[in-house]
Amino acid sequence: MIECKNIGYSYTDYALNKKELFKDLSFSIAKDEKVLLLGVNGCGKSTLLKLLNALITPSSGQYLFEGEQVDKSYLKSHAKTFRKRVVLGMQDPSTMLFNPTVYDEIAFGLRHFGFESVDERVHHYASLFGVEKILKESPLKLSGGQKQKVLLASLLCLEPEVLLLDEPTAHLDPLTTGWLVEFLEELKVTSLIATHNLSLGRELATRAIVLGEGEGIIYDGGVDTLLDDTETLLKAKLLHRHKHTHNGVEHSHYHMHSWN
Ligand SMILES: Nc1ncnc2c1ncn2[C@@H]1O[C@H](COP(=O)(O)OP(=O)(O)OP(=O)(O)O)[C@@H](O)[C@H]1O
Ligand SMILES: [Mg+2]
Repeated sequence: MIECKNIGYSYTDYALNKKELFKDLSFSIAKDEKVLLLGVNGCGKSTLLKLLNALITPSSGQYLFEGEQVDKSYLKSHAKTFRKRVVLGMQDPSTMLFNPTVYDEIAFGLRHFGFESVDERVHHYASLFGVEKILKESPLKLSGGQKQKVLLASLLCLEPEVLLLDEPTAHLDPLTTGWLVEFLEELKVTSLIATHNLSLGRELATRAIVLGEGEGIIYDGGVDTLLDDTETLLKAKLLHRHKHTHNGVEHSHYHMHSWN
């Protein structure tokens, strides 16, 4: 469904120096496959998700969606259907909320894409995500977790085929996190989810792609295999050594970066 062939991304920094964030990323994601996107801060996960949502274009290589190259000419004729089929929930939900009320926020995409029974759908997804009591509030005044729920409701109500999520559980309380993980587990949708929360890894996906820092993809394989492989986890900096003292004796052990 999704194919990246030698994708690279460079940008010009504040001093006009060209910086290469990554190059030669090649991977495919099959229909209904669920994949985790992992890697340290700044390695390019959010940038890659924006590339896959065609919000930015790669500096090199090709991005294909169902075998067709997603470039300017493709988007000229397919932008609307592409954005309905492939949705991205950005890392900071505030950047995606712009409507006067939560109701309008969820209804926006439904109206834009010409869905029927908009009111019914808004109420259905609002109640699913537990935001039905705040439909008249301004999304900008909500808590971080509430914003995340509104954003997810506004994306999932479109019944997308590809779900790109950037740290979807970052602002959620443990109960809502558990609910969302179960919800995503049952959802039949191709997904790529960036997260630092490895404890959710096995439930969110079957496969993991780990981006290194300027090294391209350093792991692409089963989530179970990755989580059981201390060496790759250490190399990917997904595990760190923690030192502490008990009764005057210093111990050290490994910790995964999964805080919630
Ligand atoms: N157009 C740009 N201009 C300046 N810097 C950029 C641009 N695009 C990407 N970067 C830089 O590339 C790096 C990668 O950012 P990105 O947000 O993709 O990382 P990330 O893996 O999602 O990190 P995190 O885990 O912190 O969310 C950052 O240092 C970012 O500032
Ligand atoms: Mg990010």
